[in-house]
Amino acid sequence: MKTYTIKTQRLGLRNWLPSDEVPFIELCQDPKVMEFFPATLSADDARNLIQRLQLHFEKHGYTYFAVDVLETGKFIGFCGLAVQAWQSKFTPCVDMGWRFKQSAWGKGYATEAASACLEAAEKQFSLLEVFAFAPDLNLPSQHVMKKIGLEYAGEFQHPKIADDHRFNTCVAYKKVF
Ligand SMILES: CC(C)(COP(=O)(O)OP(=O)(O)OC[C@H]1O[C@@H](n2cnc3c(N)ncnc32)[C@H](O)[C@@H]1OP(=O)(O)O)[C@@H](O)C(=O)NCCC(=O)NCCS
Repeated sequence: MKTYTIKTQRLGLRNWLPSDEVPFIELCQDPKVMEFFPATLSADDARNLIQRLQLHFEKHGYTYFAVDVLETGKFIGFCGLAVQAWQSKFTPCVDMGWRFKQSAWGKGYATEAASACLEAAEKQFSLLEVFAFAPDLNLPSQHVMKKIGLEYAGEFQHPKIADDHRFNTCVAYKKVF
C-alpha cells in the first residue's frame, strides 16, 4: 500500500520509491519530454535527482512528488514544490515543478496535480508564496501555470541553463497566499 502525501480525484502524490527508478530514467531520456532542457539526463543523473528529491521530502515534508494514477497505480512523472536557491531576483524561494511522460499528456493530469500542490502549499505546508519558472519557449508549462491561477511575475536569466541560447529568457509566475 503506497502512502500518498496528496491525493486528487485521479492522482496520488508521494515520496519516491525504488520502483520509480526505471520509469523515471526512461522519462528523463525522452527528448520530447526534455525539449525545454539543455539535454536529456543520463541514468546516473536521473538516479541522483531522485535521491535529492527524497532528501528534500525528508527535510521539508514536500518535494517534487512522484505521481501515480490511482486507478492503475502506475507512475507517470513528478509534480510538486521545492526550495530553490540558485541566484536570481526571484530566489531563494519555493517553486513548483512538473514533468510527465508523454503518454500522460493531454489528460489534465499536470493541472490536476499542480492545483492540488498549490492548495497544499498554502494549507498543508503554510508557505506564504510560491513561484514557477520556465523558459519562455515552454508554452505548455506556462499554460499549466496560468490555469492554476499563478500570475506573471517577470523575465530573468536562469543561471543553470543560461549557457544554452534557446533558454536565454525565462519567465516567472507567482502566487502570494
Ligand atoms: C508541461 C506538461 C506537464 C504539461 O502537460 P499537459 O498534459 O499538456 O497539461 P494539462 O494537465 O494541463 O493537460 C492538458 C490538456 O488535457 C486536456 N484534458 C483532457 N482530459 C482532461 C480532464 N479530465 N481534465 C482537464 N483537462 C483534460 C485539456 O484539454 C488540457 O488542454 P487545455 O487546457 O488546452 O484545454 C508536459 O508538457 C510535460 O511534462 N512537459 C515536459 C516537462 C516540462 O517541460 N516541464 C516543465 C519545465 S518548466
